[in-house]
Amino acid sequence: MERPTLETRLSSEVQELGLEDFVLQLEVDGLCVVPPEKTGVQPETIKGIRDQLLVEAEQIVGCGFHLEEGPDTPLTMSADENVFAVFSGDQGEPTQFLVQQLCARDRLFRDLAINPTGLALIRHMIGRNATRFSSHNAFIKWQGEFGYGRNLGLHCDQMAVPRPWGRNALTANTNWCLTDYTREDGAMAYVPGSHRRMEPPRFPEAVELAVPIEAPAGSLIVFHGATWHGAFPRMTPGMRLSIANYFRHYMILPQDDIKNLFPQDLVDDCSDPGLFKLLAGFADEFPYTQQTERIPRFVS
Ligand SMILES: [Fe+2]
Repeated sequence: MERPTLETRLSSEVQELGLEDFVLQLEVDGLCVVPPEKTGVQPETIKGIRDQLLVEAEQIVGCGFHLEEGPDTPLTMSADENVFAVFSGDQGEPTQFLVQQLCARDRLFRDLAINPTGLALIRHMIGRNATRFSSHNAFIKWQGEFGYGRNLGLHCDQMAVPRPWGRNALTANTNWCLTDYTREDGAMAYVPGSHRRMEPPRFPEAVELAVPIEAPAGSLIVFHGATWHGAFPRMTPGMRLSIANYFRHYMILPQDDIKNLFPQDLVDDCSDPGLFKLLAGFADEFPYTQQTERIPRFVS
């Protein structure tokens, strides 16, 4: 008897870039790690992005941030700003903040947002023509044993979408490791195969099943919107820097109102302006901003 096979259609981009193994890992684990040499992003570009992010962080906060030492002055944030810890009832000092709306800040970030390797894997999950930007955020994280608290901030990104979910991703995310990810250094955590549960994390099970994603700087983590993920606290001096370029199906509300608020004069300054415009949804019909259907007129 012929064995049934699971058929997965692969795009020409996935095949041309040789990403078949990563597609398989996404299907099985809900997450894959693309090594630096397969992303098409050179180490000097990763260094340039790191340097730029430290400049952005300094401008926002007003103190220096150094890769090996961390912030050059003690920083404090309200614990109630750590939404994941609030949910679990934990008390502690968050040691992380986000630099948001990155694509409006520098071309380096715009080029990363349309990286062909990341995009091919994201489009495999969401759909080629349906994929749009949701948000572009950098995580600036330093030493602190509290992190996200005892639940490791475990969540899945498409949690706001009502259930039941199907197998297709409604959102999907990328995480660029700009510094080495090890458990001690505050790596991302995830539960392999959790996207197939098609529900938000259950506790304490999720914490017990979570594993660190250990990968060198320059690696690209790609994951399904239903994959349970969070992060371990950084127990060592210095910074963990990363960028989350988050994508959505075009019928899902974006996190950032890129279509209406992104400074459009910046778009031509990137490696593929046409692709950037498509993913930003500038030409999308919905939501309507004016009467679009014909209206009847009096006949005289
Ligand atoms: Fe997330």
